[in-house]
Amino acid sequence: MCGIVAYIGPKDATTFLLEGLQRLEYRGYDSAGIAVAGKGGTLKVCKVKGRVADLAAAVPPRFKGVTGIGHTRWATHGEPSDANAHPHTDNTGRIAVVHNGIIENADELRARLLADGAVFTSETDTEVLGHLIAAHAVEGTELEDAVRAALAHVVGTYGIAVLDATQPDRIVVARNGSPIVLGIGEKEMFVASDVAALVRYTRQVVHLEDGELATVRADGFRTFTEDARTVTRQPSTVDWEIASYDTAGYEHFLLKEIHEQPSAVERTLSGRLDERFATAHLGGLNLDARELREIRRVKILGCGSAYYAGEMGAQLIEELARIPAHSEPASEFRYRNPVIEADTLYVAVSQSGETYDTLAAVQEIKRKGGRVLGVVNTVGSAIARECDGGIYLHAGPEISVASTKAFTSTVIAFALLALHFGRIHDLSPADGRRIVAGLKALPGQIREILAGEEEIAKLAAEYAGSAGMMFIGRVRGYPVAREGAQKLKEISYVHAEAYPASELKHGPLALISPELPTVALVPDDELLDKNLTTLGEIKARSGRVLAIGHRAPEAKLADHSILIPKSEPELDPLLLNIPLQLLAYHAAVALERDVDKPRNLAKSVTVE
Ligand code: F6R
Repeated sequence: MCGIVAYIGPKDATTFLLEGLQRLEYRGYDSAGIAVAGKGGTLKVCKVKGRVADLAAAVPPRFKGVTGIGHTRWATHGEPSDANAHPHTDNTGRIAVVHNGIIENADELRARLLADGAVFTSETDTEVLGHLIAAHAVEGTELEDAVRAALAHVVGTYGIAVLDATQPDRIVVARNGSPIVLGIGEKEMFVASDVAALVRYTRQVVHLEDGELATVRADGFRTFTEDARTVTRQPSTVDWEIASYDTAGYEHFLLKEIHEQPSAVERTLSGRLDERFATAHLGGLNLDARELREIRRVKILGCGSAYYAGEMGAQLIEELARIPAHSEPASEFRYRNPVIEADTLYVAVSQSGETYDTLAAVQEIKRKGGRVLGVVNTVGSAIARECDGGIYLHAGPEISVASTKAFTSTVIAFALLALHFGRIHDLSPADGRRIVAGLKALPGQIREILAGEEEIAKLAAEYAGSAGMMFIGRVRGYPVAREGAQKLKEISYVHAEAYPASELKHGPLALISPELPTVALVPDDELLDKNLTTLGEIKARSGRVLAIGHRAPEAKLADHSILIPKSEPELDPLLLNIPLQLLAYHAAVALERDVDKPRNLAKSVTVE
């Protein structure tokens, strides 16, 4: 959510800023801007409502500088507009700031600054930072001291980069709850809120911790705390491939990421399956078998698709380990003063590892003495660091706003956890072997489903014109239905509602008509007959049905079918979900939506 970039070095900053912002555009894309400082002590700012391409078109020809900062925005305070776009400056045009996060006491600070004569030109909370830093940047003050002094008055979350026209030999950055990464180059330095902007230029990076600042110069950096104590930070090497940040010939990142799922699943499973003892090894749990056996309940927390993946995870844990497990939106949990129990294992799920609601839920649990594991894709992210242990997905970077491969890898991680749990409880070796074999077969089976993309694309085009769609599934199929509906609505804007198939007759059957088709998940399991009865009820009301399962229902029960390979019943949901991703993708393409950047959304919701 919102992207920050900055550059200092011998080259023209503008080129890197624009290219870096392009790479971060998935994090926010309603407005963008850059500011550069030249050696002569002048600051140039260019910012526009719209995409980075609009910004690039608006940048005047001689807009060059040796130091620069940039931002791509997802609006929180104030509508998307040129004025609300970052960078924000003070009234003299000397200080420029880009900011991710929320300044909670912005109103109070604004009132004080107004009383001191500041003139505000935007509705953003960020603008107070420009004025506040300027107020502390009196003659002879080092920029880092002015930023530190200003931040002492600030309540809220921030990742910021600050430029001072009179000190163009440095950029000052600070982090509190919103990531800032320094990239180390050859006599040049880069800054970004996400390594995606940096990997083209350097693999050597330094992640700032919360409460830290850094002065970044062309030949190096110094990190220090809010009370000016120098801290030493060792660079680490980014190991994600540059190719992960390109569409690699696919029309969209989303399609690429859907097709990456077989290899993402292989990576999530890699080195974790134990065929001999029919179990899974998860090195990062930081809980021994005795501690795990003492756990009486599992509570899973995540937002959006991460929450639905958690629902599938809860079912896996209950089925394989027979431990009560439940998934809840982290965004709700954190506001209801939840009871934290010592014998409950809490599991936080997040692709980005940055989602603020999930992070806040983790912090609340820890404050009350609970134990939290993270199921996270982004190594070293805030949630990963806050948890007591966990499972990394190793799915690779996910760029498209809608989650696909991280969703699938999350469910795989839960299957491994459930298997591990199950085998120290009463899951038999035979059942353990069955699940191990099932997991190993999944990448090949996903490939098989993806090979049928063309047929699914035709069906998607046929159903895309509907006013809305109903998704139904029973027990294991219900979280699949919820995720399928979520994917369709977020990228195609077709209204979609998910219901347990068993609940249809208790209300939503009233909606069924030829205009509201139903996507029905009908795996060949112990509930098949019940699901077929539901299809009969829909057809009796002239509803159209697209069935997804292992056998095509009779023509009188379904208008169309998508068939998938059979896995173990507990793992079937993973495969049932794949056609739904393709269905949503191709419906969005048929409707000419901006697939990777759906309206009103952004990747990683780092605000409340
Ligand atoms: C849906 C989607 C969102 C995210 C949610 C949590 O496709 O992408 O619902 O799943 O915002 O994000 P993470 O997993 O990064 O915490």
